[in-house]
Amino acid sequence: MGHFIIHLCWHYLHPYWSCFLVCIRTCGRNCTRYDTDCVPASYRNDMLAYIQSNETNKTCTRTFLVPKQMKSPVYIYYQLDNFYQNHRRYVKGRSDKQLRSRASENDTSSCDPEDVTSNKSAIVPCGLIAWSLFNDTYGFSVNNTLLGVSKKNIAWKSDQQHKFGSDVYPKNFQSGGLIGGAKLNSSIPLSQQVDLIVWMRTAALPTFRKLYGKIEVDLEANTELTVVIENNYNTYSFGGKKKLVLSTTSWIGGKNDFLGIAYITLGGLSLFLAISFLLIYIIKPRPLGDPTFLSWNRNPAGHFNFN
Ligand SMILES: *[C@@H]1O[C@H](CO)[C@@H](O)[C@H](O)[C@H]1NC(C)=O
Ligand SMILES: *[C@@H]1O[C@H](CO)[C@@H](O)[C@H](O)[C@H]1NC(C)=O
Ligand SMILES: *[C@@H]1O[C@H](CO)[C@@H](O)[C@H](O)[C@H]1NC(C)=O
Ligand SMILES: *[C@@H]1O[C@H](CO)[C@@H](O)[C@H](O)[C@H]1NC(C)=O
Ligand SMILES: *[C@@H]1O[C@H](CO)[C@@H](O)[C@H](O)[C@H]1NC(C)=O
Ligand SMILES: *[C@@H]1O[C@H](CO)[C@@H](O)[C@H](O)[C@H]1NC(C)=O
Ligand SMILES: *[C@@H]1O[C@H](CO)[C@@H](O)[C@H](O)[C@H]1NC(C)=O
Ligand SMILES: *[C@@H]1O[C@H](CO)[C@@H](O)[C@H](O)[C@H]1NC(C)=O
Repeated sequence: MGHFIIHLCWHYLHPYWSCFLVCIRTCGRNCTRYDTDCVPASYRNDMLAYIQSNETNKTCTRTFLVPKQMKSPVYIYYQLDNFYQNHRRYVKGRSDKQLRSRASENDTSSCDPEDVTSNKSAIVPCGLIAWSLFNDTYGFSVNNTLLGVSKKNIAWKSDQQHKFGSDVYPKNFQSGGLIGGAKLNSSIPLSQQVDLIVWMRTAALPTFRKLYGKIEVDLEANTELTVVIENNYNTYSFGGKKKLVLSTTSWIGGKNDFLGIAYITLGGLSLFLAISFLLIYIIKPRPLGDPTFLSWNRNPAGHFNFN
């Protein structure tokens, strides 16, 4: 009985995981992979040199044909593949206390190696997660008219109110030798740094989408959307892919609710099974085995009969 149920769960739940991974891996019509196409042909053999050089032009233009009408708001996501945001060392690289309040700005003990500058003053926000903040940017236009990208409400309200302080300002951020990603405007408090807040809600899977912003006009079918990408972020050193996704549903991404739903489903199922087994046990208990049938009880000497 137990085995049967476990098999049932595995076979029913497993497809969801694989489907989820497949869905997110393949780049459909609303999605464009740009990490290789945005590297000039002359650098294709050494993309690392291209991305690390400060003299190469990182601007890249792509077009997107809107297949069907997309009603406002159109969500813009970036998707990274093969990016282990759940790596242990990486996930530990943050200080929740520091993010929350100014009084804890020197609380950087969990942030090594991005904890303090060379003159020992604290980095705010500290740690590898913040340091590696995504820094590609996208600009959209139709017929040479720029479309605004709204960043309103892309982060969780609860994060903005309770996890990122309104009196905590970036300090010494990205000031070291090695730049990990985007810089932050030091006159804007962390509670308003929505890109950072979205980024810091770390993903549990190596392929993930995060909300970049919203286009707040309807896009008609067959509109040619021009995207100007600043291809800054270095995923080349670990073979990661970068994709840009447009969607009319806030299906997943900045909010990463898939895992939440999966956990709740699994939790619910486990609870259900626990209660079922309990009921089965109460209604129709299995008799306990009779210990007198055990071999060493039948023949007390037998077990130790070495001779
Ligand atoms: C680019 O980097 C080199 C060192 O790698 C430096 O000498 C140069 O000033 C930099 N150029 C710009 C425009 O930052
Ligand atoms: C980079 O290339 C784009 C066109 O692809 C051009 O508009 C822009 O001026 C260039 N930037 C620099 C710094 O050369
Ligand atoms: C792609 O865009 C169309 C509208 O053009 C929408 O109906 C569809 O749900 C989108 N697909 C995904 C995976 O977001
Ligand atoms: C953090 O340390 C610096 C010197 O290292 C000090 O000036 C500052 O007042 C400290 N901040 C707090 C909130 O204790
Ligand atoms: C440490 O260096 C940073 C710049 O890297 C500077 O802003 C800060 O004032 C310095 N702190 C001390 C205590 O010298
Ligand atoms: C873009 O221009 C074309 C022709 O120049 C026009 O037919 C089309 O309606 C325009 N699209 C938008 C969204 O303005
Ligand atoms: C963007 O991030 C990369 C590291 O991924 C860094 O090398 C680059 O200097 C950053 N560029 C900008 C403009 O922030
Ligand atoms: C930083 O933010 C302030 C306040 O919003 C703004 O006035 C300033 O132009 C910003 N600085 C940069 C470099 O974006």
